[in-house]
Parts: sequence; C-alpha cells; structure tokens
Amino acid sequence: MPGSSEGGAGSESYDATPYLPRRGGLPAHRRAAAECRGCPLHEEATRTVFGRGEAHARLMLVGEQPGDQEDREGVPFVGPAGRLLSRALLEAGIDEEGLYVTNAVKHFKFTSDETRKRRIHKAPSLRETLACRPWLMAELRLVSPELVIALGATAGRALLGPSFRVGADRGVPRPLPGAEEGTRVLGTVHPSAVLRARDRDAAYAGLVADLRTAADTL
Ligand code: URA
Repeated sequence: MPGSSEGGAGSESYDATPYLPRRGGLPAHRRAAAECRGCPLHEEATRTVFGRGEAHARLMLVGEQPGDQEDREGVPFVGPAGRLLSRALLEAGIDEEGLYVTNAVKHFKFTSDETRKRRIHKAPSLRETLACRPWLMAELRLVSPELVIALGATAGRALLGPSFRVGADRGVPRPLPGAEEGTRVLGTVHPSAVLRARDRDAAYAGLVADLRTAADTL
C-alpha cells in the first residue's frame, strides 16, 4: 500500500505474492487466484471472487470485498450493493458492459449470527487488504484502465494509501501512485454505505454525482 509500512507482527505470512502466476493474462490470474492461501480468509469463504468484465476497460471499479451473494455466485457486485451500483452507473451515463469490476479483497469475510444461519459482513483488516493487494495490482497492470473508481474506504486505502478518507477525498481524480501510464483514481462512497445511510436519497445523489465526474474525466 502506498505510504504504508503497516502490517503488524507476522505480516510476512499474509501475502498473496507467492500465488501469482509469473506470466499470463486475466484468465491465468483468475485460475491462480482460485488457489490463493495468502491469508486466512480463504478458510471460511466459499471461493475466491476475482474481477469480471472488459479485459481492456478504460474504467475500472474497485469495491471492498465480495458479500454473501458474491461469495455464493463467484462474481463481484451481484447482490444488493451491486444492484444499487448498476442503477447509479446507468443514471451517470456509464455503460456497465464496458467496465472491469473487482474488489480490493477477493474473499468474503464474515461472522455468523447465533443461529449460524446468517453470515454477517465483516470489514477486512488492513493486513488482509495488503495481503490481497498483489492481485489488485496485477489486474491494474493487465487491464491498464485510464481511470479507477475506488468504492469506499478499503478500496481507497488499497489504491491511494492509508490516509485516504472518503469524506475528505472523494470526487476528485488523482494520479494512481506507482502507475506507469497516467492512470488516475477517483474515490467515492461504497454502494453499501448508501444502502445504510440515514438519508439514502442524498447519499445516492452523491454517488451518482461522483460517477458523473468520473465519466467526464474519460
Ligand atoms: N460489496 C463489495 O465491495 N463488493 C462486492 O462485490 C459486493 C459488495
């Protein structure tokens, strides 16, 4: 992560790097990611949820981690947050077909309720986010988008460093640290935060406004 030395004691053992293929495109990376044991999240999750979409998309979307439904289906943003995101993209005039969509963390992290019937989302730690970052960096290198939209704090921190704050930093395109070809990143609110917001209409309007800024940047 740019500008961070954080990781905690023993962070050496949380790292996806040894699982990355030395060569190959997105399909080779997707296959390899299915076997990733770079951190303990694979133990409880059903499967790795790798990115989907256009291999050379101009616009890439990065979320936090798969949710319950994504974990079952193996595809990012197919649950309630994904449906809200699709609506916001449409409203902002962004064609979802042309996008590449992925997550900062590729396994679902959750706790179970007392009955063990419901799996409750738990935010990934910085250590887990860092461990998974090599997959995200590989996707960025292979897709080479012009603009990346970071949906929420986890994605923003994975891309822009631990000081990223959605409230202060959203809606402004800035250079992606370490990117060779002038790729930029724009942070915004996570669609799940819109679903949870007290004033959902205002939160949704803010998301659409940021997506419009992104569309205008391309
Ligand atoms: N939330 C995310 O951040 N990503 C998904 O794929 C689904 C929900």
